[in-house]
Amino acid sequence: MSLEDELEARRQRAYAQRSPEERKVRAAAVTAVANAQTAERALGEGEPIPRFQLPSIEGGLADAGLLLERGPLVISFYRGGWCPYCNIELRSLQRWLPDIEALGASLVAISPEMPDRTLMTVQSDALTFPVLFDKGNEVARQFRLTHQIDPQVVRYQLGNGNDVAAYNGMDTAEVPLPATYVIGADGVVRYAFVDADYTRRADPEVLVGVLRDLAAERDATSGAASAPASATGAGTVAMSSEQITAEVLAAIGRASGTRTGEILSAVIRHTHDLAREVRLQPGELLAAADFLRRCGDISDEARHEYILLSDVLGLTMVVDTEAAGVADGALETSVLGPFYRAGAPWQPNGANISRGTGDGEPARIHGRILDTSGTPVTGAVLDVWGTNGHGLYENVDPSQPDYNLRGRFRSAADGSYDLWTVKPVSYPIPDDGPVGELLAVTGRHNMRPAHFHVIASADGYQSVVTELYTDDDPYLGSDAVFGVKPSLVVHYDHIDDSQALAAAGRSEPYWDLEYDFILTPGQASSAGFSTGRRRAV
Ligand code: BEZ
Ligand code: FE
Repeated sequence: MSLEDELEARRQRAYAQRSPEERKVRAAAVTAVANAQTAERALGEGEPIPRFQLPSIEGGLADAGLLLERGPLVISFYRGGWCPYCNIELRSLQRWLPDIEALGASLVAISPEMPDRTLMTVQSDALTFPVLFDKGNEVARQFRLTHQIDPQVVRYQLGNGNDVAAYNGMDTAEVPLPATYVIGADGVVRYAFVDADYTRRADPEVLVGVLRDLAAERDATSGAASAPASATGAGTVAMSSEQITAEVLAAIGRASGTRTGEILSAVIRHTHDLAREVRLQPGELLAAADFLRRCGDISDEARHEYILLSDVLGLTMVVDTEAAGVADGALETSVLGPFYRAGAPWQPNGANISRGTGDGEPARIHGRILDTSGTPVTGAVLDVWGTNGHGLYENVDPSQPDYNLRGRFRSAADGSYDLWTVKPVSYPIPDDGPVGELLAVTGRHNMRPAHFHVIASADGYQSVVTELYTDDDPYLGSDAVFGVKPSLVVHYDHIDDSQALAAAGRSEPYWDLEYDFILTPGQASSAGFSTGRRRAV
């Protein structure tokens, strides 16, 4: 969706939510700003910008002069995080940041909002470019952008809980007109977008077009500038790390527009920013490389240290949850983990997948597989696996039979399924490798709460990789891999009453879990990963 499409959708939503009176007041306020000709009087094309210095929310001072030494500068003046149009614009600029940086330019945003409020905007909009605090609109005033919000509009804003004057630490609701500038490296405004209507914003594609023109002019006139520096380096400006980032992004420019390009450019931007943020030292980079090497060294067909690393950093859960898009009330996702083994034997309903000796306390798991409207799903597949009572999966425990505690079941015509296994126990994830070191240095334990793994799938439904967590487990609130979601916490009843045992045809007590899996319509998919079985030594 283009920025203008997003802005328009927001305009329509705002219009629909407002009373006829409020619509009139707001339209009149925009007309008054237009009549005051503030936009026309603002700093415009061909004018040099004031050389401001402003504190960045991330720390440090942004100096316009220094930024311009690196190349062109894009400046976005926005009103504040309370303004939905500002957030839409900031997020759009963030998406265009790689293109801006690839053209050797910097981007900053400026608002009069106090740092604590600005920080909220930076975090909620996930902004990685500098956002600057313009106390009392001092710099906006130099750009001739300031104006007072109409008092009647202020009253509506206060009614919505937004006290703009207080947000800015000022006595009045003074804000800049939202404005976007492209400044050439010579400090002169090359493009200015200033509009009396605060819902109108510069099109980032136009900004990038202006930057492209500037780059072409620079290339055409800078034979000398691109010539090698003198042997002594005397008189040359030291290269900044941001220039290196821009160079690297430009180097992968041919991948732009592809998924690989999108991911790689984000990896480059975020890792370079990370290095700058924590002032990563060369020795620390080498230590990270060694850590990754050791993750590789310890991995084999049954040990997957990189998956484990992603799991303990919570990355797996973020990716799975973002990708899933399950309907409310339907089965949610959890970690696949490194112990899934494809090809488990097909089992009839009622079968027991505990085929070892002393596997643990018997448990029956049964229920139905339904769609979101409660209709049974026939022929749905449950691919299940779990550890034995010692917390070991068969693929890393040669004493267990092949595929022990693993199986695939199909739901019957009425959507029902029924299987026997052992009651899950909490168990440690492997901590004898680099991931264990990471847990230790961060003071974390390596336990997973008791759980039962399931991949639920059926034609016409999204396949869900998930786990059911036992409600009485002491590690439920501190899972080493962050897999627990409230909807996945289940209760096992202990069946020891003789009548119930007789009805189940059992002589020994067992645990009983009744659970219905609710599937979301969509496309079925496969797990995309399967481990191997460690050979006995
Ligand atoms: C598991 O439950 O099988 C698991 C998940 C993540 C990391 C280690 C183990
Ligand atoms: Fe597990």
